[in-house]
Amino acid sequence: MIETFNNPYSVQDAQVFDALRRLAQELCPEELQAERQAVVPDSALGLPTDELNLDALELPFGVERPASEPAATSTPVGATQSHPTGQTLPTDNGFGIGIPETQKLRQLHYEEADTLDSDQIKKDFPVLQQKVNGHDLVWLDNGATTQKPNAVIDKISDYYRNYNSNIHRGAHTLAARATDAYEEARQKIANFINAPSSDNIVFVRGTTEGINLVAQTFGRQYVGAGDNVIVSELDHHANIVPWQRIAQERGADLFAIPTDKNGDLILSELERLITPRTRVVSVGHVNNTFGTINDVQRIIDIAHSHHVPVLIDGAQSIAHTPVDVQALGADFFVFSGHKIYGPNGIGAVYISQEWLNKLQPWQGGGNMIKDVTIEHTEYNQAPARFEAGTPNVADAIGLGAALDYVSRIGIRNIEHHEHQLTEYAREQLVQIPGLHLIGNPKHRVSVVSFYLDNIPVPEVGTLLDKEGIAVRAGHHCAQPALRALGHEMSVRPTFALYNTREDVDKLVIALRKIVNSK
Ligand SMILES: Cc1ncc(COP(=O)(O)O)c(C=O)c1O
Repeated sequence: MIETFNNPYSVQDAQVFDALRRLAQELCPEELQAERQAVVPDSALGLPTDELNLDALELPFGVERPASEPAATSTPVGATQSHPTGQTLPTDNGFGIGIPETQKLRQLHYEEADTLDSDQIKKDFPVLQQKVNGHDLVWLDNGATTQKPNAVIDKISDYYRNYNSNIHRGAHTLAARATDAYEEARQKIANFINAPSSDNIVFVRGTTEGINLVAQTFGRQYVGAGDNVIVSELDHHANIVPWQRIAQERGADLFAIPTDKNGDLILSELERLITPRTRVVSVGHVNNTFGTINDVQRIIDIAHSHHVPVLIDGAQSIAHTPVDVQALGADFFVFSGHKIYGPNGIGAVYISQEWLNKLQPWQGGGNMIKDVTIEHTEYNQAPARFEAGTPNVADAIGLGAALDYVSRIGIRNIEHHEHQLTEYAREQLVQIPGLHLIGNPKHRVSVVSFYLDNIPVPEVGTLLDKEGIAVRAGHHCAQPALRALGHEMSVRPTFALYNTREDVDKLVIALRKIVNSK
């Protein structure tokens, strides 16, 4: 049974949708599609272009303007011809400066479209209702972890209060309930990323464990002396270290796709790096420091044309852009529940049909076997063969609830909201004297990295905390990425569905205060 739950955003009734769709069509669907493409390329989402008609888009809800009223009248962010800093900015600079009239219309649509009621959404998150150091908490550390809505907390509590049991064994009522709920959560993950079956989904502790699982199963089976593995310079350490260890163990090489100074991968280099000895390409979908959305469709296409399988690290994409593993053709896709409003300590690995039962188990124990004698073990089919021992039942169920929550709001709506908030933040931040943004990738999610002249990065983090603002200040477990752009550390605010313009304003005011006090 797929559960629905009541939350105040389930107001997207047919009337609102129809009104929005009519309004959007007035604004010219081709332009809207071009706008969406400009923000997130289809290839980065793994969506074939011909499937992207307007009707298929989730439209934002809560728009009050009736369909009969004229189109947007608000001023697009930054749609002036001079920038407050006096900088000369390139045409497509993310601030709307120098954008041709036709494109301004698209930006206007974004202004209008961002009506996701984040103030209301915030109320679903109890942790956000507190004061920190005398200020209302502003949580801008979403890249590190997201907060949990009541729907998730209640679901976990319900499990422990009412049907805690081990699963897949024990013929009693609570075991059956727990098993059903656990498997239902697996199905929800499959649906969320469009896996062909829940059998393709393996529960793990998170992205790190998922990548280690693939490295230690696939890697040990298929990577040998003289082979190579390709990662990227933009990757999190979780996608570098496991492969580095396997490469060292097997006598293989580890290569990295380089990045340019904007924080975009130089994909032409991938063609050069791939050799007949390349066994796997493993890359992040979205970089956690500059927010770069990598063109994973192109990466997969290049790798597959050389018969090389691809792992996508979805830790930073799962909560921000739609993911369709089948359209992408990914061999492996890994993500963590805690990055998408789910519990800590739970995540998933998608393994494509091709590899599912070819890979040997990586841990032995109960649950993953069919038959055991002292001499020999016959393993279960996937996914059970990869889930030795008692699993994290409660948090798997909690992750299912998180995906329900996100699906009710709509990943497209979240993407639109965060995009707009990020552009607003960049526009405001760049006006602070002595503040320097790091990275300017072509397509990005809701991550901003910067540093301040003469104030060490960790100190900025501490001073912001005094104002009740939580950001990450450090190397973000992505040292090669930062170093590629000439930095060791950055201050990194990251935005989520519950963040508002007011949150951005508080950040900007606090930073101005810090700068002025020095
Ligand atoms: C891109 C990326 N990959 C992997 C990870 C590791 O995720 P986890 O610590 O949940 O295993 C992170 C965490 O920040 C990340 O941003």
